[in-house]
Amino acid sequence: MLAESVATIEPAFEISNYKISDEDLPAFTDLEFEHINELHLDHPGANDLEYRKRRDYIASCAKKFRETGEITDVEYNSREQRVWRYVAEELEELQQKYASPFYLRAKKDLGITTERIPQLSEMNRRLKELTGFRLAPIEGLVETRGFLSWLSYRTMLCTQYIRHHSQPAYTPEPDIVHEAIGHIPMFTNPNFADYSQFIGHGARIATDKQLEELGRLYWFTIEFGLVEHEGDIKAYGAGLLSSFGELEHAFSDKVERRKFDLEEVINHEFTYSDMQKVLYVIPSYAELKEITRKYIESF
Ligand SMILES: [Fe+2]
Repeated sequence: MLAESVATIEPAFEISNYKISDEDLPAFTDLEFEHINELHLDHPGANDLEYRKRRDYIASCAKKFRETGEITDVEYNSREQRVWRYVAEELEELQQKYASPFYLRAKKDLGITTERIPQLSEMNRRLKELTGFRLAPIEGLVETRGFLSWLSYRTMLCTQYIRHHSQPAYTPEPDIVHEAIGHIPMFTNPNFADYSQFIGHGARIATDKQLEELGRLYWFTIEFGLVEHEGDIKAYGAGLLSSFGELEHAFSDKVERRKFDLEEVINHEFTYSDMQKVLYVIPSYAELKEITRKYIESF
């Protein structure tokens, strides 16, 4: 149970409330972003004014969501579609070998194909039917607590713009490829959806130290997680599933694949920009959910 002092700061929630109705949702207000207006010099589109204009335009569509509550579909141009097709096709091939079977089925169920960039609105409709998860467009990286806290409302904040065409295999920031090919399919798994919600619950009541731990848990599962499957190991983390480099690397002998251990994971420091040296293999999404429930209840 929550300590009283904490419960008075944060609105109360039931850790077992998996059905979030529209009325339960707080207002979508502006969040604290991590400098989204300057593109870092290592961003492949940093010096491409046309790209930056386009990225800003798509970001403005995302921003509209917080005024209207409606997802604005983006009319992606042919260059953007080409980037998608290239990346999606390459990933599809690798994923057949390495991705979790649940993920592969879910991607199909959501209608995510190599043909065209899917709209958040259509994936959102389907997700809502399946697990009550929602997608909310956002124009860039949000600070950790704000971002994770939205998961407690079974809501994933998603970008809509796409990476720069000069380096289709790489993006220093989340983009629609990372969201739609990496994250979104897994939210159709009820245990994974509940697990994500627990992380959100945790983020709302965590101390700064606990928040850091939750960030690591998120990183080594939702971004870089591996799962056992019939005596084999498969990928379910979005950072792996949306990057050919990371996906191949994860199954190479440069990576140590360890059995998931919560204590170890939450204390495992990592750097965003480096390839992972250690990855963790969960036995199942259901077990990950239960371990995390106990952990969050200890906050
Ligand atoms: Fe991500």
